Amino acid sequence: MQHFLSLDETTRKQLDHLFDVAYKLRDQRLAGQPNEPILAGKTLAMMFEKPSLRTRVSFHQAIIELGGHAIRLGWEEVGLGKREHPADVTRVLSGLVHGIMARVYEHQKLIDLATHSTIPVINALSDESHPCQALADVMTMMDEFGRDLSGRTLAYVGDGNNVARSLGMICARFDMNFVLASPQGYELAPQMVEHIRSQTPGMKLDMTHDPVEAVRHADAVYTDTWVSMGQEAESAKRREAFKDYQINDQLIAAAPSHAIVLHCLPAYRDVEITSAIIDGSRSRVFPQAHNRLHAQKGLLAVLMGGV
Ligand code: CP
Ligand code: NVA
Repeated sequence: MQHFLSLDETTRKQLDHLFDVAYKLRDQRLAGQPNEPILAGKTLAMMFEKPSLRTRVSFHQAIIELGGHAIRLGWEEVGLGKREHPADVTRVLSGLVHGIMARVYEHQKLIDLATHSTIPVINALSDESHPCQALADVMTMMDEFGRDLSGRTLAYVGDGNNVARSLGMICARFDMNFVLASPQGYELAPQMVEHIRSQTPGMKLDMTHDPVEAVRHADAVYTDTWVSMGQEAESAKRREAFKDYQINDQLIAAAPSHAIVLHCLPAYRDVEITSAIIDGSRSRVFPQAHNRLHAQKGLLAVLMGGV
């Protein structure tokens, strides 16, 4: 694995290895032992065009616990594509640090960084995808259902956005079914659906406008904000369009009794998901957020540590 820009370029074999490493490192940590200093002497440069809590802290903490360092670059200071051409930024960083992670609006900026980089580039969220989140989400489902997720169903109720795209792709990699319930106009694009299906012939990927139908056979029910970063001007319109898609007691009552609830966070409580559900017994939202650390340790160990 050279870069981690999307799950498209990542094989099932690579993901299995990444999770083997992630679980080993997590077990060490939970046993109170320090992790091996796999990234001793290595530095990750992190840049954010959008806000972040989980991604920033989990990456920084992951690299510290693996014996390395992180530098947070100010977005305006770097001026990617404004002060300096991405090719020059990345050529310079390639000789100074050992990995780059970036959160951007346009996915093309990540491609531009990776194209000229001799060190790994990691997608910390773009308008197109959020593959690091999907790693933690799969790990959380593995915690619940075991490492073999084949035949399990993830029902995503909400916006067909960056998070939904990466989830669809990772479901394909793990032979899972993926059902997406969204209002008209907020589905996954047909080309994306075809692309995901083409990854695993025979994959069950359904789209519906009925959230109850979507969750009926779900092992996990997932939602994300209805208003992603950068869409704030559409807030009122989106809240109206999605108002029947809230994850609440009534919807969860239609899911199998073993189904868990996931949300990548940040959540608008009592908008796309009720507080009662986030704080309730079906929720795995906080272990899911903590798995960002563990899954990304696996990613960093593989990408930057050659494990
Ligand atoms: N889920 C997630 O990526 O959270 P942040 O935006 O806080 O990093
Ligand atoms: N879809 C959300 C995810 C936040 C982690 C966004 O892009 O803002």
